[in-house]
Amino acid sequence: MDIDLADPAFFAEQDFVAYFRRLREESPLHWNPDGKEPGFWSLTRYDDCARVQKDPVTFSSEVTNTLGQHRWTGDHGAGRMLTHTDGRRHTELRGIVGRAFTPRAISALEPYLRSVVQDTFEQALEQRQVDFVETMAMLPVASIAALLGVPRADWLMVLKLTTAAFGAADRELGMSRDARVAAAAAHTQLLLYCQDLMEDRRRQPREDIATRLVQAQEDGRLTEEEAMLFFDLLLLGGNETTRHGAVGALLALIAHPEQWATLRREPALLDSAVQEVLRHVSPSRHVLRSVTTDIELYGQTIRAGEQIVIWHSSANRDAAAFDRPDEFRLDRDPNPHLGLGSGTHYCVGASLATLELRLTLEALSAMVGSARVLEPPVPLASTVINGFKQAMVELTPS
Ligand code: HEM
Repeated sequence: MDIDLADPAFFAEQDFVAYFRRLREESPLHWNPDGKEPGFWSLTRYDDCARVQKDPVTFSSEVTNTLGQHRWTGDHGAGRMLTHTDGRRHTELRGIVGRAFTPRAISALEPYLRSVVQDTFEQALEQRQVDFVETMAMLPVASIAALLGVPRADWLMVLKLTTAAFGAADRELGMSRDARVAAAAAHTQLLLYCQDLMEDRRRQPREDIATRLVQAQEDGRLTEEEAMLFFDLLLLGGNETTRHGAVGALLALIAHPEQWATLRREPALLDSAVQEVLRHVSPSRHVLRSVTTDIELYGQTIRAGEQIVIWHSSANRDAAAFDRPDEFRLDRDPNPHLGLGSGTHYCVGASLATLELRLTLEALSAMVGSARVLEPPVPLASTVINGFKQAMVELTPS
């Protein structure tokens, strides 16, 4: 059991599914000693993971909510960003953007997003041999840009800056100094862009999130810096997660042709198929919480201030919660997966993520006749995102 779960390389190089199975059976509350990061506890069973996320008083998000360097250098969002607040402040922050993400508001985007997906697949099918990680880059950025109020003419630029600033999810492996400087410069440009956009909305309010962020500053709910952190969070939160969810969906369909054939025959399965993709792929591997008071768990005392990582990738494969959990079954029902989190921090972009994945599955069923993997996909070395650096596939039109 001497594996360091804070080591991003572990997830690229070893069978983490098998390791989590072992932890669930033998060490469901597991101490990960100091290694790549300061020590932390790991929870891997479904019930434990669900319970912790539903108790933000004992298990707080305020210090930070993921593994990473910020655990010892300090997290700039701590106590200020939606993901990094609890209680009343969290409710207040969530209220600022909540209405932009309701299922009704999101469904208004559907025709437009369907056209983005169709264009994406038309181009990919024309090329035939593509890196599907590249193919799926545009959809998440276009989706969130539309909600934020970024004009269409600027999307490509925002996509480039977002990718340069946050794109390489396996940056944890250690980027070169030059790459870090370039990422920081791209991030600064994004923040300046956000400032300009908000300035524009101050003069001309519209029905978009940029306007909500401006109004929240005017009535004192946000400082300008907090508004920019929000912008950042929204760009970041829905980007890599959805992209790798879509890539994982294609790879799972290729590996399970009988499921793909069923989906083509029964489009009514699309909604449950999306949920199964979220469970099976679990694009967000984990979330982290800090314990606010001494507690007992599995006969072990966990001290106030210590941190617990909730492994969604593991909870979503727990046989105590899912029948034959390692199987990819598009008609799985019930499917109470934790892929989008749970409790008060449940993904605010859930309706958007679900729509994007549904449209992707729809296109894969209707437009793609067959697909094959050309080279073994290269996994991301990341503790945060379950995905691939590259996934070369050949797509044939239907
Ligand atoms: C497949 C795609 C996605 C996955 C797997 C995913 C996963 C998650 C998870 C696990 C959480 C909980 C974080 C925690 O408990 O600390 C979360 C929260 C969040 N997600 Fe998503 N997400 C996805 C798409 C999106 C999209 C499209 C957006 C849109 C901007 C988004 C924005 C957010 C935000 C802002 C939060 C914080 C909510 C809060 O703290 O109250 N996500 N997401």
